Amino acid sequence: MDHAARIAQLREEIERHSYNYYVLDAPTIPDAEYDKLFRELESLETQYPELLTPDSPTQRVGGKVLDGFAPVKHVVPMLSIRTETDTEASGASNFDTRVKNALGAADEIEYACELKFDGLAVNLRYERGMLVQAATRGDGETGEDVTQNVRTIHCIPLHLKDCAAEVLEVRGEVYMSRRDFNRYNEKQRELELQTLVNPRNGAAGSIRQLDPRLTAKRPLSFFSYGLGEVRGWTLPATHSAVLDQLAQMGMPVCNERAVVCGAQGLVEFHQRVAGKRDTLPFDIDGVVYKVNSLALQRELGFVSREPRWAVAHKFPAEEQLTVVNDIDIQVGRTGKLTPVAKLEPVFVGGTTVSNATLHNEGETRRKDVRIGDTVIVRRAGDVIPEVAGVVLERRPANVGEPFDLYRRLGGHCPVCGSAIVREEGEADWRCSGGLFCPAQRKQALLHFAGRRAMDIEGLGDKLVEQLVDGGIVHTPADLYILGMSALADLERMGEKSALNLLEAIEKSKRTTLARFVYALGIRNVGEATAKDLARHFGKLERLMQADEAALKQVPDVGPIVAQSLLAFFAEPHNLEVVDALRRRGVEWDEHEGDGDQVLPLTGKTFVLTGTLASMSRDEAKSRLEALGAKVAGSVSKKTDCVVAGAEAGSKLDKARELNVAVWDEAALLEYLRESEKTIDPQIDAD
Ligand code: IVH
Repeated sequence: MDHAARIAQLREEIERHSYNYYVLDAPTIPDAEYDKLFRELESLETQYPELLTPDSPTQRVGGKVLDGFAPVKHVVPMLSIRTETDTEASGASNFDTRVKNALGAADEIEYACELKFDGLAVNLRYERGMLVQAATRGDGETGEDVTQNVRTIHCIPLHLKDCAAEVLEVRGEVYMSRRDFNRYNEKQRELELQTLVNPRNGAAGSIRQLDPRLTAKRPLSFFSYGLGEVRGWTLPATHSAVLDQLAQMGMPVCNERAVVCGAQGLVEFHQRVAGKRDTLPFDIDGVVYKVNSLALQRELGFVSREPRWAVAHKFPAEEQLTVVNDIDIQVGRTGKLTPVAKLEPVFVGGTTVSNATLHNEGETRRKDVRIGDTVIVRRAGDVIPEVAGVVLERRPANVGEPFDLYRRLGGHCPVCGSAIVREEGEADWRCSGGLFCPAQRKQALLHFAGRRAMDIEGLGDKLVEQLVDGGIVHTPADLYILGMSALADLERMGEKSALNLLEAIEKSKRTTLARFVYALGIRNVGEATAKDLARHFGKLERLMQADEAALKQVPDVGPIVAQSLLAFFAEPHNLEVVDALRRRGVEWDEHEGDGDQVLPLTGKTFVLTGTLASMSRDEAKSRLEALGAKVAGSVSKKTDCVVAGAEAGSKLDKARELNVAVWDEAALLEYLRESEKTIDPQIDAD
């Protein structure tokens, strides 16, 4: 193929993908793949400048303005930054060299380093401190007026603190946190509705909703990273100081940033962030380096609509394309049957992935994932890899049938052969074998031994597999009669590890009621509910004897959780296991429970903000909870009291706005001291 034809083909393909992505919010290709096409086109156009046309996708920044939103002309164009695709350290040093050469500088340059958020860029226009308009980037010159939608994003202030500037345009990224994204998708799955492909699409799609009420239901967030038009405000000398001042005004600014010196500083920042990427609460696709001095930024200026003073340094992609070789079905702790895609191994989000969850049958069908399909695999944060979507364009002629779980299994559990069932209104098929099913037994044991449950160190996958398959352990209670002789026969089990395991099992006997209840693995009873139950009932007998009405007295326990508890304790087998566990020495401190005893803060909701000097936030939280309070993350009309430590920010403002009581640290300490005297000691040590 000649160059002209290849260029035409690339343009056509990029335009189609970018239309799907930017205009329809329905990506057909992962970013990394798109970037590759784009770079190829760019390099061909650089090589053959006579073939460059003004309508090439490389000559514009984003998509078209949709009909539904009024256009907004940006006073200062919203440009993009050059991307350093070399994910190694040289990406950083190349940039530093370019900057130094352009400035003719001999000394080290100071840089502001930030995260590259993966969302949607917006321009927020504040006039005399009031938010008057929000616009998307659009093509960089003209965006869409999305003011109504942006106003529904809680972390974006509607007015700035202490800012009388005639005009201050704040630029930044609207994004969806991983937790919000996962929660949103879980809810959609329960309702058997379409899920979002990734948080970025969640943010972009939400901002482009024509009905702001729908946007308000999507949990969005925002981080500021720069400015647009500014009038009547004296700029500080550096970019980092701009962000500091924005933060002072109440704008969300990400704390994960640094001011560093020279190439070495950039490399260190890149490495540090790469190391904690998985634990960040949101997706990033790299970091951004900016020359910190605004004077030097002006001196450096722009080349072909990209600032010479900034660069994005990428991380390995968290989404990749690969092929589905097969679809397996796994049996979970409560019998849930989960389709899992067996993939052609692919390097994504820092590891090689060969299995990805398809969640359940409904979701597999909605996405129409079939054997032979090319799919987008996503692995972000510490969540398990999932199939985000199918690239229909690459579907082969001999692709498999639409997924049908029942037919696939012939109606029987693939592990124990029991009938599979799906209750009315439920998204999941389940194996009806209960603890007769070895797969469920294994998962139940792993859950029982988990760190947040009975915390039996060393009891992992491989061991549980052998213990169950060898018929040595049937129920969790059997763990407590294990001896050296039973363990000695197991594969890869030396005397030392056997002793360690027995010791860990012995140690786990001393526990708390909350952990014990959680460890039982009762459906719909997570860690928080187990704590609530333990606190309320105080004694296991009282929990076991409680009827539906009594259970519903516990905060956050509704009919579903109550039914799960009743069903669990109605099952004779479960009662036997609980009994055997106690006979074999599992114990905890019991108390009267606060179900009858009204604690001083029962029914009160607290919010903690700022830094406390005398204790950690976790400690303050558990001490307030022990007094019966609920500790929430954000301030609302339902909040009874906000505890404000040093440097309390927007939550304190919100409390004042809503007339909510505010305590300082001294008031909190005083209250805790007085009240803790009057109640039982702490019931759960976690
Ligand atoms: S600065 C003129 N800083 O990345 C410089 N951009 O091509 C303007 N982005 O779509 C951008 N995190 O939305 C900047 N810390 C950050 C960023 C960031 C994400 C996005 C931005 C734009 C793209 C840059």
